[in-house]
Amino acid sequence: MARHPLPSHKSRAKAKSRGEHGKHGSRTKLLVCTEGKYCSARDSEDVLKVLRKTIEKCELDNLLKVKKSDCLGLCKHGPVVAVDSHGVCYGGVTEADCLDIIERHLSKRKPIKRLHIKKAKKRK
Ligand code: FES
Repeated sequence: MARHPLPSHKSRAKAKSRGEHGKHGSRTKLLVCTEGKYCSARDSEDVLKVLRKTIEKCELDNLLKVKKSDCLGLCKHGPVVAVDSHGVCYGGVTEADCLDIIERHLSKRKPIKRLHIKKAKKRK
């Protein structure tokens, strides 16, 4: 049994009406670190597949886009998913978290606290 219902038509319509297509009218971009060795060793490819499948199943392709990424510099938190358009990074993401991430960034845009990680500050 699914933990959550799929994003409803209502929430998809709301996101559309609010123009939540990312910056400059583009789709919200989810980057999954699949090329970095730590995340790839922690099944990030499976996370990527589930994100893509869910987006396709919910017909959200016009709102969300999932892309593979190189190392995002947050290796110890892997698997890492960055919601590029919203400046949010998630760590320790499992297949079970994918729907939460989609739902959250489609409707509310607030980061999911239990997964949210902050990017390391660059050293000068
Ligand atoms: S290996 Fe994924 S963030 Fe570095």
